[in-house]
Amino acid sequence: MLGRFMRSPRTVGAVAPSSRALAAEMVRDLDLSGAQTVVELGPGTGVVTRAIAERLGPDAHALAIDVEPEFVAAIARKFPRVEAVCGSAADLQALLQARHLAPADHIISGLPFASLPGEMTTAILDAVAASLRQGGTFTTFQYLNGYPTPLATSFRQALTARMGAAPVRRVVWRNFPPAFVLTWRHQ
Ligand SMILES: C[S@@+](CC[C@H](N)C(=O)[O-])C[C@H]1O[C@@H](n2cnc3c(N)ncnc32)[C@H](O)[C@@H]1O
Repeated sequence: MLGRFMRSPRTVGAVAPSSRALAAEMVRDLDLSGAQTVVELGPGTGVVTRAIAERLGPDAHALAIDVEPEFVAAIARKFPRVEAVCGSAADLQALLQARHLAPADHIISGLPFASLPGEMTTAILDAVAASLRQGGTFTTFQYLNGYPTPLATSFRQALTARMGAAPVRRVVWRNFPPAFVLTWRHQ
């Protein structure tokens, strides 16, 4: 992760992967065993992918979408239950439609929204809202140190406007830096 961060700091966005504690909290309240379509955005080296793959039901189709070909190849190798896709999260709706998949039950994101260009974040949030079924969830995290900033606050407001309700929030101390996990349910 550090090597890729040095080459693409804005898209990778973190020097170290998330902790297992953060990954576990990201999926803890999601009914992955009963889901049909599960999407992970920005899987990176696969810490959260592992937590997802361990909980998938037999009928679920899971997609992990990343722009970095090296990460995509590693995800494909490590997690045969997950379809690793090289592409942008902004194209999520087209990627689901091309596979004739139902709207997503759960979208779980490790994308570095704090360092992505604003237009890219807007395109991704539009794609997320268009790709989730009613009652489906979107889960992401924000580091505690960045949480009160205007950028992080307007990101949460933009998601709440698209999802129709405020998120549920939990803190994870066992991560560097500690983080809030946020889950929105699409109304
Ligand atoms: C901070 S890493 C997160 C990795 C992992 N989920 C974790 O929590 O440790 C962010 C990941 O998002 C990917 N990424 C950045 N922009 C993207 C985009 N537009 N579409 C898909 N993936 C993207 C990067 O390549 C990188 O793998």
